[in-house]
Amino acid sequence: TFSMVTCNAPVNIAVIKYWGKRDEECILPINSSLSVTLHQDQLKTTTTVACSRSFQEDRIWLNGKEEDINQPRLQSCLREIRRLARKRRSDGEGGVDLAGLSHKVHICSVNNFPTAAGLASSAAGYACLGERPSNEVGVYPVALSGPFSLCSLPLLSPFSFFPVYTLARVMGVEGELSAVARQGSGSACRSMYGGFVQWIMGQREDGKDSVAQQVEPETHWPELRILVLVVSAERKPVGSTSGMQTSVETSSLLKHRSDSVVPARMKEMIDAVHRKDFAAFAELTMKDSNQFHAICLDTYPPIFYLNDVSRHIINLVHHYNQHYREARVAYTFDAGPNAVIYTLQQHVDEFLQVVKHFFPPETNGGQFVKGLPVASTT
Ligand code: DP6
Repeated sequence: TFSMVTCNAPVNIAVIKYWGKRDEECILPINSSLSVTLHQDQLKTTTTVACSRSFQEDRIWLNGKEEDINQPRLQSCLREIRRLARKRRSDGEGGVDLAGLSHKVHICSVNNFPTAAGLASSAAGYACLGERPSNEVGVYPVALSGPFSLCSLPLLSPFSFFPVYTLARVMGVEGELSAVARQGSGSACRSMYGGFVQWIMGQREDGKDSVAQQVEPETHWPELRILVLVVSAERKPVGSTSGMQTSVETSSLLKHRSDSVVPARMKEMIDAVHRKDFAAFAELTMKDSNQFHAICLDTYPPIFYLNDVSRHIINLVHHYNQHYREARVAYTFDAGPNAVIYTLQQHVDEFLQVVKHFFPPETNGGQFVKGLPVASTT
């Protein structure tokens, strides 16, 4: 027998950040987090999984290049999906017979964008989902000028994406898969749903209650927009996995954050999302990004993800909001210098004009932009 499934996985951008694990092996976080899943036409990974008895061994290709299948996180995902497939079969609910390990898989993943620093951590939210409705939050990539190269773009670190959903489909597994995606990369579990998604940290040692849950669907807040300001395409110097590990070991501010800040902030953020209160959403988003980067500085040795251009963007956003005496735009930064801007549709054009005024587009470096559709703003 031979079966093959292809799926797309969208990226998610956290507004309450996940940073720090209480269990490295099971990938269990020290705090809950919340993100928005992006429209999958714009930033996505397409994964095809073929499953056959005639394959000699499991293999994986990422962006056309064969990679090591024995990477521990990938192995955890494969093991878990096979276990679920076996269980489904023994329960008489179908599922491919993998009990004798007679079926091997060939996984082929391609991302439609050369992932730059900082986008990589968000892009780690790769769970490879099925098709989604087309009215999700859009992403508007904008190239900034300055001391950055838009031409030499390193690809996303290969194991930042885990084609869990596609694997599950080809093996006939259904149901709650965010726990499996989590084994690939923590933030990936939030990409199992569209719209506004929380990853509840959970309390149990076995991680059974550490799952992603949709807070509101993608149709809830149709005016919300995301702009990605590409500041640098350099690979980030410290990856999120090792960065957060050092933070857990050395930053007392991180402990304060997880004990005393995030629980209340999660409630406020969920409330702001329910009410579509952009000003509250924006303030919480910016404060949470700032606290995450403060923790990076509090880590020893310190981790610097933001650069001068990132800080200029932060200032620009605050000046812009102050001008209108209300928060119309919010920034958030992951483990890299690129800014992700949240705003409402009616402010997109004007804010882009302001950005272009201060950071005129480069003439020679449009490659990244070409690779991504710059969505129309109407
Ligand atoms: C800054 O999910 O990449 O983007 O679980 O070790 O794979 P691992 O880490 P990862 O961390 C993402 C960190 C972040 C914040 C976020 O997306 O919540």
